[in-house]
Amino acid sequence: MNPATPSSRERPTPSAAEPAEDDAADSRTVWQRTVGAASNPDLKLAMAASGAALSLFTVGHMAGNIQVYLGRERFNGYARMLRTAGAPVLPRNTVLWVARVGLLASAGVHVVAGTELTVRSMRAEGRTISGTLRQVTRGLAALAERAPSLRGPGGAAQGRSAEYWKAPFDGAFLPGTLDARGPRRRPRGRRRTLPQVVARSMRSTGAVLGLFVTYHVLDLTTGTRPAATRSFEHGDAYGNLVASLSRPVTAAFYAASMAALAGHMVHGLRTAALDTGLTGTAQRVHRVDAAAKAVGAVVALGNVSIPVAVQIKVVR
Ligand code: HEM
Repeated sequence: MNPATPSSRERPTPSAAEPAEDDAADSRTVWQRTVGAASNPDLKLAMAASGAALSLFTVGHMAGNIQVYLGRERFNGYARMLRTAGAPVLPRNTVLWVARVGLLASAGVHVVAGTELTVRSMRAEGRTISGTLRQVTRGLAALAERAPSLRGPGGAAQGRSAEYWKAPFDGAFLPGTLDARGPRRRPRGRRRTLPQVVARSMRSTGAVLGLFVTYHVLDLTTGTRPAATRSFEHGDAYGNLVASLSRPVTAAFYAASMAALAGHMVHGLRTAALDTGLTGTAQRVHRVDAAAKAVGAVVALGNVSIPVAVQIKVVR
């Protein structure tokens, strides 16, 4: 970069004497002026606080969900209570909407701060978004290369996969795992442990959860087809839940998403505790670890039991 043109980060803050002029000359985007101006510790704190709020919601939501085992009346009563909480002092749905706005704000802060931290860490490692996307698509093409259905009679790759294969691939994307020319698995001794895999998958598990929640709200809250079943009926949370999870693919998607939730929560809670300085000693780190695993496991198992129970017709 030309030393005469400082980067947006290095730009001096406007003095009181020249605010208007400096504002006009400030070519930074809104994102750069707001999120981009926050320090790494501030962003991590924002991640920790919003993540804690979302975790609190998932714990409470799971406690509500397992009331499905108490039968249609109790479960629908609980769903009704969420809408009428605070009545008659507060109008119907007030508490629900306050919770929805809080949830949406927490999710927004979490995604925005996470995106900025990701971009910063990529920049620090000299990686670019387009370069990473290229590596990912090449890696996926390399995976597809292994699928027998994509191979021709002589074992040669066909179609798009073959096109990709001709392009240079430096194998830097997950070496030894997705590079079809390399060994199928990382060599012994260099294989990642489950906690390492979970830690490296925070962005993908976060993306799965984003997709899950979008589908889930269309399925069970707004009743929007095709996410929801044809029999969706506002006010019958129990019937909607059973109808939805009676679909094997939907039940499998719910269960798989809960695995993503468990990993995301366990590593997220642990990281939040570390980032906010709750862990000062090795003993406390162990305690936090154990607590994060317990919370993640209880929430995921409690939730996962529901699609399973509907599939085996314990709940119907
Ligand atoms: C198997 C697991 C789950 C089941 C059975 C389940 C069940 C439900 C049900 C029945 C509703 C509708 C409640 C009503 O209309 O009164 C609902 C709403 C919702 N759920 Fe879940 N849920 C599960 C997991 C999750 C997870 C893991 C999250 C978040 C990470 C989540 C987020 C939400 C949200 C945001 C709403 C909408 C709340 C609203 O605005 O009314 N759910 N869930």
